[in-house]
Amino acid sequence: MRRRKKPGAKEKLLTHELHLCKEPEKYKGHWQGYFLEKKPIHVELGTGRGQFITTLAAKHPDINFIGIEIKEEILLKAVEKAVAQGLRNVTFLWYDVNKLDQVFAEGELNRIYINFCDPWPKARMAKRRLTHRNFIEKYKTFMGEQGEIHFKTDNEKLFEFSLNEFAACDLRLKNIIFDLHQSDMKDNTTTEYEDKFAAMGMKIYRCEGRKRN
Ligand SMILES: C[S@@+](CC[C@H](N)C(=O)[O-])C[C@H]1O[C@@H](n2cnc3c(N)ncnc32)[C@H](O)[C@@H]1O
Repeated sequence: MRRRKKPGAKEKLLTHELHLCKEPEKYKGHWQGYFLEKKPIHVELGTGRGQFITTLAAKHPDINFIGIEIKEEILLKAVEKAVAQGLRNVTFLWYDVNKLDQVFAEGELNRIYINFCDPWPKARMAKRRLTHRNFIEKYKTFMGEQGEIHFKTDNEKLFEFSLNEFAACDLRLKNIIFDLHQSDMKDNTTTEYEDKFAAMGMKIYRCEGRKRN
């Protein structure tokens, strides 16, 4: 996501108490105690400006959501969306997805969303893709039985790679869609990137991988 360095963004972000978890390591293994009510926990990696996760949080008060984003200026926009809507079932981490094992313990998540992550197109950088098997094996440990990964991208090669990685990690593939916006899938919640790419006439690819019991 294009980054516009904004002076004061970090300070402004850190003023948010209710929608920014500043010491997420403290909640490793205790995320159910962080939220007002115990509910299944869904996480979005690289949440960007938060359109997707705040829309889902408003639609699904029965779920607690955590959005993770590394860039503070961008995360500030997501936090401000949650504040403006008065959402209490979503929080955000200013954090690097590479360090997820410092904030989540075994089995405490129910679903992970990965939307329009960097495709890292060069083969030598494949391990940086958030759908590389090294990441997927970690996500699997954070998720309980029947945990799911939901993935969307505009990049066909990344999609093919990810389908293979999901299968190699023994996830049961479901709802594989090669052109989401021309499909009959109902109730698709779009992301900022998805809206942009779809408006340019690009195909959106989507799949789910479910942990086997
Ligand atoms: C291409 S954007 C997609 C944003 C949003 N998911 C969407 O679909 O509109 C990818 C986002 O992931 C964030 N990101 C990239 N690497 C990350 C990392 N290691 N940890 C956390 N966020 C990361 C970027 O800052 C960026 O906002």
